[in-house]
Amino acid sequence: MTNVPVHLDDYLVQNDAYASRSFPFDEWEWLRANDPVHWTDAAGVEKFWAITRHRHITEISARPDVFSSEKGNILLFPEGQEDGNDDPDNAFNQMRVIIMMDPPDHREFRKVASGFFTPRGITRLDEIVTETARLTMDRLAEHGDQPVDFVEMVAQRHPLRVLCTILGVPEEEEDHLLQLTSQLFAFDDPDVGRPGEDREAASAALAMEFFTMFNTIIEDRRANPRDDLATLLATATLENGEPMGLIETLGYYLIVFNAGHDTTRHSISGAMGAFLDFPDEFARLKADRSLMKTAVEEVVRYTAPVNYMKRTALSDYELGGVTIAEGDRLCMFYGAANRDEEVFDDPNRFDVGRNPNRHLGFGWAEHYCLGAHLAKASIAALLEQMVDRIDSIEPAGERDFVAASFVHGFKHLPVKVNWA
Ligand code: HEM
Repeated sequence: MTNVPVHLDDYLVQNDAYASRSFPFDEWEWLRANDPVHWTDAAGVEKFWAITRHRHITEISARPDVFSSEKGNILLFPEGQEDGNDDPDNAFNQMRVIIMMDPPDHREFRKVASGFFTPRGITRLDEIVTETARLTMDRLAEHGDQPVDFVEMVAQRHPLRVLCTILGVPEEEEDHLLQLTSQLFAFDDPDVGRPGEDREAASAALAMEFFTMFNTIIEDRRANPRDDLATLLATATLENGEPMGLIETLGYYLIVFNAGHDTTRHSISGAMGAFLDFPDEFARLKADRSLMKTAVEEVVRYTAPVNYMKRTALSDYELGGVTIAEGDRLCMFYGAANRDEEVFDDPNRFDVGRNPNRHLGFGWAEHYCLGAHLAKASIAALLEQMVDRIDSIEPAGERDFVAASFVHGFKHLPVKVNWA
C-alpha cells in the first residue's frame, strides 16, 4: 500500500474542500486501489464507509433490503445529528419523497410518476427541450464574443426552464425557485447559500417557501387539469384508489425539481469544462453528429454531478471482504465508480464516442434516476445547439466550484465563444 493521501477523509466530503479543489479524483484512485471500502472519519461529519469501486456500488444498490435509503436518509448528517432532527416546524421533516423510501412503499410511489418519465410519456418533450435550448443559445449569442459565465447564462437556465415548463411554474417565478434550490443544496456556499445562519431555521423557512409555491400550482391543476406532470401529480391516486396525500404530492414536486435542476445544470457546465480541456472532442462531435448519443452518456459519466448517495445497513453484511455492521452508513461515490479502471479504458479521458459506457452517473437498480431520459434529452438538445452554432470555445478566466459535496460542479465557468 502506498502512503495514505493527506487529508483523505476530509477531502472526500467536506464542502469547503469541494469549493477549493472540486472532486477528489486522486484520493478516489488511491482508495480504489488500496482501500475500496474505507472507514471515513472526517471532521464534523458522521462516520461512514466510502465506496469507490463500480462493482461494490452496483452490489449495494441492488440490495435495498439490506441497504436502506429510508432509515438514515441519503445525505450525510453533521456529526452529532446522525438521527436527523425532528423539529416539527420544519416541513422537510414531515415530507416523504421516493428517493428516501424503501420497498414496498418506494415501488408504489415511484409508479405514480414513472409512466410520465418514459420516452413516450413526456409528450412534447422534444419540442420543450429543443425550444428551450434554442432560446438559451439565442440569449448567449447576444453577447457575441464577449467573455460570459457559461453557468449563469446557459447551464442553469436551460434545465430551469425545462423543469418549470413540465411542473407548471410560471416564468416570473423562475428566479425565485432558482434561489431557493441553490440555498437548499449549497447552504455553506458564501455566494449562493446562507452560511453562518442557523441551518434549522433557514431550512424550515425554505421548506415553507417551496411549499407555498408548489401548493398554488397543485390547487390550480386540481381545478384546471392540463396535459402536464403538474396535473399528473396533483391528481394522482395510489394503488388502493386513494388520492396521494398532500405531503407526498408536495414531496414529489420538491424531489423532481431539486433532483432535476442542479444535476442537469452541473452536467451541462461540466460538458463545457470537458470540451475546454479536450477541444478535439468538440471538433469530433461537430464533424460526426452520430456520436450525440454516446457523447451525452459520456457527459454524465465524466461529470457525475450527483457525487454520492448514502445508505444505512439494516443488517450485518460482508462487502469486498469488509464486515459492514448493522446501522453503519455507506456513501457510494458515483464519480469514483465512473473512473474505475476495472470497467473503463483510460477512465480520465473524455471520449464522446465511448462505447460501452456502463457508468453509474444515474445510480443503479431500485432508485435508478427517474429523470434520466429527460436529463439526457435536455443535455442532447443543448449540445445540438452548441455544435450547430459554435465554432470553438476558449477559456476566459478562472473557473470555480460550488461549496457542496452532495451535488457538485462549477459555480462559474467563464468562456469566450467563437460563433460559427
Ligand atoms: C444529469 C442529470 C441527473 C443526474 C446525474 C441524476 C442522478 C441521479 C442519481 C445518481 C439517482 C439515484 C439516487 C439513489 O440511488 O439513491 C437519481 C434519482 C432520482 N432522480 Fe436523477 N439525476 C439527474 C437528473 C434528474 C432529472 C432531470 C430528474 C427529474 C426531472 C431527476 C429525478 C430523480 C428522481 C425523482 C430520483 C429518485 C428515484 C427513486 O428514488 O426511485 N433526476 N438521480
